[in-house]
Amino acid sequence: MNETTAPVEAVRRNEGYDDLRDLLARFEEMGELETVEGADWNLEIGAVSETVAGRNPGRAPALLFDNIKGYPKGFRILSGAANAYRRLAFVLGFPEPENETDVVRAMRARMSKGFEPIPPVEVKTGPVMENVMRDDEVDLLKFPAPFVHELDGGRYIGTDDAVIMRDPDTGWINAATYRVMVHDKNTAAIWMSPGKHGRLISEKYFAQGKPCPVLIVCGQDPIMFLAAHQEITAGVDELAYAGGQRGRAIEVIPSELHGLPVPARAEIVLEGEIVPDETRLEGPFGEFMGYYASEATELPVVRIKRVYWRTDPILTLAIPSRPPENFTFARATVKSALIWNEVEKAGLPGVQGVWCHEAGAGRLFNVISIKQMYPGHASQAGMLACNCHAGNYAGRWVVVVDEDIDPTNMFDVIWAMSTRCDPPEDIQYVRRAWSTPLDPMLFAPPWHNNRAIVDACRPWGNKDRFPTVAEASPELKRRVAEKWPHLYT
Ligand SMILES: Cc1cc2nc3c(=O)[nH]c(=O)nc-3n(C[C@H](O)[C@H](O)[C@H](O)COP(=O)(O)O)c2cc1C
Repeated sequence: MNETTAPVEAVRRNEGYDDLRDLLARFEEMGELETVEGADWNLEIGAVSETVAGRNPGRAPALLFDNIKGYPKGFRILSGAANAYRRLAFVLGFPEPENETDVVRAMRARMSKGFEPIPPVEVKTGPVMENVMRDDEVDLLKFPAPFVHELDGGRYIGTDDAVIMRDPDTGWINAATYRVMVHDKNTAAIWMSPGKHGRLISEKYFAQGKPCPVLIVCGQDPIMFLAAHQEITAGVDELAYAGGQRGRAIEVIPSELHGLPVPARAEIVLEGEIVPDETRLEGPFGEFMGYYASEATELPVVRIKRVYWRTDPILTLAIPSRPPENFTFARATVKSALIWNEVEKAGLPGVQGVWCHEAGAGRLFNVISIKQMYPGHASQAGMLACNCHAGNYAGRWVVVVDEDIDPTNMFDVIWAMSTRCDPPEDIQYVRRAWSTPLDPMLFAPPWHNNRAIVDACRPWGNKDRFPTVAEASPELKRRVAEKWPHLYT
């Protein structure tokens, strides 16, 4: 996408929706929601969600599963909530988009205008308190937690979730998407990759010999998911970030045991503690790079002591799998805008577009387009896109292209790599970068990986004598399209 062709007015079109249920009504009106009756939590819901999302990336409908086998009508699962350009634009309050890139442009425009988080506001109660299970009443299997992929090690109640913790030193509230497996009626496990904020916070409690208080929001408004699964800078409260994106504060209720912020209109929220001195096997789980790259591991257990939930609850489901996944489009869109914003903040001029390709699971193959202004500009762009916080975790390839290449168009990008890149000269490596046990190319700790930064721009020194592109001029294209319009519709 090219910024010069992207005038965007960030009008808030999401004013009228307060929670997931309002949103589902809007999605239905938009023709963006399909209901699926009678599916089994055991594999069928996972397989339907994976395959429907994969058939039409960025455009597939959201799926609402009801009458799930063995569960009462009304105990529902929602898959791929905002994973399509029209739904994502609505959730973020953008104008109705014509295509996928309109959403990136709108996001980018919002971020460049000095996006401000809006802190959550405390309220006394809300719909999430309609039902509460306490202590011995707790039964996680009351909800249709799906067994997602055939080789998984258990049922996952948390996938499109937000795991909320408080930093014991600073009081900072972090909310992040981490997978949550059910062990039994009141015990679960949270898998957090090394270096992730939640893991660092829990280790601080463990170092003091204390359990780590935690909330797990496992049925939620996609605006929360969009904040929780992005690499947002440490110290920023994702509830405030989500409020900023929504244009209104998220309402929260202090939880009964630890005073952690329960989103008042969430569907299902678990409260408990991660205990350091008892572990059980978690996983394996089919993961976002498209593999079972890590084995089951011993993880501290989470004792669940409260469950807050709405009547007829909706569990939200994100399915990591071979890309494209049922969340990749939304993640790629938001991440592209975050990277764009971060590299500019670091002083990079001339950025025309950024796209984190779905084929790279929205992380592993990222493209940045620049209007080259000085020698070394392309290298700076590649290094920054590779190493900024939003782009760093679990990356592999960063490709830098000129302004005439649309970074969202794989064909264009491969053409640039094929014709403007001299591999031994134009590929640089970054070694020992931040990765994860989920990387199939890593077989043991430490979980470092290596990256390639591909300069696929016209070489700076020969830029002015680089051969002219053999293509009809925009004016000639316009003229022939006007003359024979039926050929171009
Ligand atoms: C569907 C989905 C599942 C995820 N599962 C995990 C997970 O199990 N563990 C993990 O460390 N990161 C997971 N992530 C990635 C994190 O959500 C992401 O890196 C986020 O920035 C973490 O928040 P933090 O920066 O506050 O640690 C997942 C992302 C998505 C979209």
